[in-house]
Amino acid sequence: MSKILVRGLEIGYDETGSGTPVVLLHGFPFNRTMWSEQIEALIPRHRVLAPDLRGHGETTATSGSATMEEMASDVAALMEKLNISRAAVCGFSMGGYVALALYRMFPLRARALVLADTRPGADTEEAQANREAQAQKALQSGMAGIADAMLPKLLSPKTVARNPAVVARVREMILKTNPQGAAAALRGMAQRRNQTSFLSRVVTPALIVVGREDMITPLEEAELMHKEIGGSRLEIIEDAGHISNLEQPERFNQALTKFLRELEV
Ligand code: MLT
Repeated sequence: MSKILVRGLEIGYDETGSGTPVVLLHGFPFNRTMWSEQIEALIPRHRVLAPDLRGHGETTATSGSATMEEMASDVAALMEKLNISRAAVCGFSMGGYVALALYRMFPLRARALVLADTRPGADTEEAQANREAQAQKALQSGMAGIADAMLPKLLSPKTVARNPAVVARVREMILKTNPQGAAAALRGMAQRRNQTSFLSRVVTPALIVVGREDMITPLEEAELMHKEIGGSRLEIIEDAGHISNLEQPERFNQALTKFLRELEV
């Protein structure tokens, strides 16, 4: 793990491998370690950068809201500092909101997009109120309550029954997240804009990945992105819920590496 000062934040990140660059953006309230299996699969051919987004992992937490645009600007500035002019940008869930914001704000930075278990739309008023309640809960009593509320929806029933190590890993990531960072991200996600109408302006190659049993960003969201982004590919990961890259790493890696290989021809 390395650390670097960017935009007044200390950003924790992993950078490894060599070849065409790939940037991996984790979800909420996780950290860059959710990508370990993908990093292993990518390093033979790629320079892989996996940062901790603002308020997560080893990266400084800020108060107030951490908007998707702030996080996208952090990632673009980190790329600049590390001399990565363009990369395939792969975002999972909240990381997907950030990846789309990054492409909208800094289109030249993304040579391709991978949008995994994410959605293009904004929160409903009810979802916004729920985010605020969760933010208060995180600030007042820490992350255990957030873990209890989220865990039943994050993984497929099969993963929960058969893969206790993944359940424990997800719980541990959530418990390690700084409550102030989590609250800021919840508020930032509640404020995020609806990027649906922007999708038809995405001209870079795009892969959309979704776990068949994703309860948080369900298949319909992936199908909508696939329909709106011209020439995009949709990969549905069987026997996976929301965290498809952790629940079925081999299937996820196969879809990801195939897409990235095809970019090179
Ligand atoms: C995530 O996995 O990043 C979050 O569940 C996304 C969200 O809450 O909208």
